[in-house]
Amino acid sequence: MKIHKLWVVLMAGAILGLSGCGQTTKAPVAKVAINDASLGLEKTSVYDVPTPPVTQYSKADPGTNQSLGVSYHTAPPQVPHNIDDFVPVTRDNNMCAACHNTPDLIGGKLEKGQATPAPISHYIEKTKDLYMGRWNCIQCHRPQSDAALLVDSVFSPDKLN
Ligand code: HEC
Ligand code: HEC
Repeated sequence: MKIHKLWVVLMAGAILGLSGCGQTTKAPVAKVAINDASLGLEKTSVYDVPTPPVTQYSKADPGTNQSLGVSYHTAPPQVPHNIDDFVPVTRDNNMCAACHNTPDLIGGKLEKGQATPAPISHYIEKTKDLYMGRWNCIQCHRPQSDAALLVDSVFSPDKLN
């Protein structure tokens, strides 16, 4: 008799469990498309925002253009010359280094058209070998372009300190 009662209790529990009784079932959510005008801060359609004009990169051959200098100390200078023939930089081929990996020229007088030596920060101190963390030059040095400022810059290097 005792066993029989236990059996009934177990069966009832199993049936309740299977039917999910006591749990809240989720009603299906209707999928409503998001209006693209509500996606960004701009309160117009993303398709109404004008795309920036196409910019041109320096076509100058190495040795024929001027450096723009840098906006602030420790900023990487932009590449003043065309780099089309020197990319991609790969593990086995680095044309940039072929001209700029010249630690012995640092501080010396350069002849006209001679590549600016990559600075001391780019080499391993003891061996003067190019530091491999600097291998991918274009990660930091981008070619000069005629891109106009999209918004006026209020950047001032003094504010960095
Ligand atoms: C054939 C030699 C040559 C190659 C290859 C070359 N450069 Fe140059 N680079 C120069 C010369 C020469 C200058 C000096 C400015 C000028 O006349 O263009 C220069 C200037 C620069 C400067 C400006 C330095 C400053 O003081 O402002 C940077 C940065 C630079 N190159 C990066 C690169 C990168 C990155 C690559 C590879 C994608 C590269 N260069 C490939 C010859 C070369
Ligand atoms: C991680 C970023 C980074 C990488 C990668 C890098 N540079 Fe630079 N480079 C800089 C910065 C920052 C400066 C300016 C500050 C300094 O002297 O370190 C600079 C300066 C230079 C200058 C100007 C030197 C001068 O006297 O005016 C040359 C040339 C240059 N780099 C060439 C290269 C070449 C070639 C490579 C690849 C072999 C390379 N850089 C990789 C960040 C980088």
